[in-house]
Amino acid sequence: MLTLASALAAADQTAPQALDFNLYMQGKYVYERNCIVCHGARGDGNGELSATLKPKPRSFREGMFKFRSTPYGMLPTDADLRRTITHGLSGTAMGMFSHLQAEEVEAVMVYVKSFSRRWRKPENYAPAMKFPPPPEWFKEAGAVKTHAEAGKKLFTANCAACHGEKADGKGAAAVTLKDIWGLPAAPADLRQPHLRCGDGPEDLYRVLATGLNGTPMVSFEATLSAAQRWDIIAYVLSIRLPSGPVL
Ligand code: HEC
Ligand code: HEC
Repeated sequence: MLTLASALAAADQTAPQALDFNLYMQGKYVYERNCIVCHGARGDGNGELSATLKPKPRSFREGMFKFRSTPYGMLPTDADLRRTITHGLSGTAMGMFSHLQAEEVEAVMVYVKSFSRRWRKPENYAPAMKFPPPPEWFKEAGAVKTHAEAGKKLFTANCAACHGEKADGKGAAAVTLKDIWGLPAAPADLRQPHLRCGDGPEDLYRVLATGLNGTPMVSFEATLSAAQRWDIIAYVLSIRLPSGPVL
């Protein structure tokens, strides 16, 4: 039975939720039909298809998730997990599971959470951060160009070591980077038409605010002001326009 306390906890997700056994069993069923080939029976990312895939399917055992709206290091919210499952991660083997019923998605999320103890500890939970909407100047081509020029300098200073001067993912530090799973962490080629985080300015802003857990892509929340981040985003979007360098 859903008590008021657990309903509130579920709403803001700042605490572990009591396991709903029926949902868990339904989730196991959904997982075995849709996810096990990649994420594996033990949730360690070693499914049948794993060996051939790059990036490798995620291990859920560490409880570390890249695409979130919560501060660096924290667990994702249910909305974050739902977005990953229903939209997929562009450019990876993680497709969109848009054919699943809403309840099946909720159930498989419960099952995914059962693989890691991190979900049982309240200190790993945080509410979603508040993100400002993109500035009005994103609607004016001339203003975007000026901001992109400023952003280019900031990109060189803050991002190029890993992502490369041209944002092609080939920075000097790129070859040495590893993630917490011990795998090479390739800085994203930011010129590609679709990013895993999404393609809008707000999606890039979210990554710069939250960082990608488990990878060298840390949060810039403390090191770059909102204005600086929007300038960098204008630059990144500008090199993905058809008039930019050839992709
Ligand atoms: C064909 C292979 C494949 C299948 C099937 C698959 N995934 Fe994935 N999944 C991946 C890969 C690859 C990644 C890692 C992408 C990355 O690290 O950029 C991933 C990552 C994830 C993540 C982590 C996202 C993050 O923020 O770090 C979640 C959650 C996830 N998958 C859930 C699921 C669920 C639930 C299913 C079944 C409904 C499923 N996946 C089926 C390949 C797959
Ligand atoms: C220390 C190296 C490093 C620095 C510095 C760095 N990044 Fe990253 N970035 C990475 C790595 C590695 C990944 C991919 C992580 C993964 O999925 O394993 C990444 C991923 C990203 C993504 C997600 C792409 C997607 O597919 O969704 C964006 C956006 C991004 N970086 C933008 C930036 C910007 C803008 C800056 C500068 C403000 C920056 N990064 C600085 C290493 C770095």
